[in-house]
Amino acid sequence: MKIAVVGTGYVGLVTGTCFAETGNEVTCVDIDSKKVERLSNGEITIYEPGLEKLFLRNLKENRLQFTTSLEDGIRDAKIVFLALPTPPGEDGSADLKYILGVSEEIGKLLKDYKVLVDKSTVPVGTAEKVKAAVRKNYSGEFDVVSNPEFLREGVAVDDFMKPDRVVIGTTSERGRKVMGDLYAPFVRSGNPVIYMDERSAELTKYAANSFLATKISFMNEIAQLCERVGADVDMVRLGIGSDDRIGKRFLFPGIGYGGSCFPKDVQALVKSSCEADYQFRILNAVMEVNEKQKLHLIPKIKKYFNDDLKGKHFALWGLAFKPNTDDIREAPALYIIEELLAAGATVSAFDPEAMKNVQQLLGDQIHFAENQYEALKGADALIIATEWNEFRTPDFLKIVTSMKNKTIFDGRNLFDVSAISELGFHYESVGRRSISPNSNHKN
Ligand code: UDX
Repeated sequence: MKIAVVGTGYVGLVTGTCFAETGNEVTCVDIDSKKVERLSNGEITIYEPGLEKLFLRNLKENRLQFTTSLEDGIRDAKIVFLALPTPPGEDGSADLKYILGVSEEIGKLLKDYKVLVDKSTVPVGTAEKVKAAVRKNYSGEFDVVSNPEFLREGVAVDDFMKPDRVVIGTTSERGRKVMGDLYAPFVRSGNPVIYMDERSAELTKYAANSFLATKISFMNEIAQLCERVGADVDMVRLGIGSDDRIGKRFLFPGIGYGGSCFPKDVQALVKSSCEADYQFRILNAVMEVNEKQKLHLIPKIKKYFNDDLKGKHFALWGLAFKPNTDDIREAPALYIIEELLAAGATVSAFDPEAMKNVQQLLGDQIHFAENQYEALKGADALIIATEWNEFRTPDFLKIVTSMKNKTIFDGRNLFDVSAISELGFHYESVGRRSISPNSNHKN
């Protein structure tokens, strides 16, 4: 099938590449000519494990092409995916200017039946707005389908190739058939394609992300309580997670959720609820809990250093909002850095992928280390903000010899409390007992 993907950001590039991989001819369109040139020359513009190999192979086979011309891109396509940004406006609602602008342009170019697919996360009612925008300039046949993506950064290729489910929102039989054929190779394993109306599909995406954000925030609050009553959140997590109705995943407490989706989608759902004259109380609480959780380690750090961080030097492991990505949007590490610098401390950070992005944002306000151990040199404490695998089993001897103080504040619960206690560290994590070499059982 011939497919166009408009927008070569994260979702667009993964979508285009994965559809090409299953034998479709895909043309990706973007207004950024430099990006199109780089992509056409085989230079991938995002970091996503496993993507580059597929990208290069399909580029070579000519199944994947890039252009700045919307007209050329969609000319022969039967399906046109819209993978455009929906940034939050000042009031938190999703701004549809890119999607509706491109839809109007497409209306000017359409000559025959095509299926337009909203792939971006868009508020309920957007499919109707897209239809109206196309209609301004085109009176022929077309369909608009809502087909939200559920990709997780870091495992996006796998999520795309083997989706838990595919949601297709359309009331058109023709649109349903075209989309069903396109996704058939991805659901051979038996996972469902769920057909529904456009509005339900649009809401499904927000509901999924907001539910997961709620699950995490619930555990973050349980962790808070654990610290106060002397319980261990790891045990509670295991205890509740083995109940199928709750499930084991997304129960890990930490220093808050970040990234490009959860914060934005929770906020947008609260906003659309307001517009529909409904107060989504739980989600208001979720946002509040998450804001606080990002700074969960700060009071602990301040207390440990008797409220005086001036001149203290911190090693920071992890900058990305989660492992296996270079994405720093809403990353808890950034909030921690801001607090430390404001308190007069200095920071030496290491992240396997995200340092370039933070450097662009912060310049030389912090030191960027060559590797995780270099970051530790002379540090009064180590702070862990992202659970990269390489931080999980470090060489503790190297840690001890590099640091000034054997002190760790772990926002991701990477280490076993008892094991680290034997190594003589002062160790504080999230929702578990704190360990001090002197007291050994300090809560
Ligand atoms: C998310 C959704 O999972 C995906 O379906 C959607 O399409 C886009 O948004 P992503 O933002 O890439 O994907 O990351 P995800 O792995 O879901 O993690 C989101 C945030 O939750 C991260 O900050 C992560 O650290 C945090 N998290 C996740 C927890 O704090 N605890 C958990 O148990 C799981």
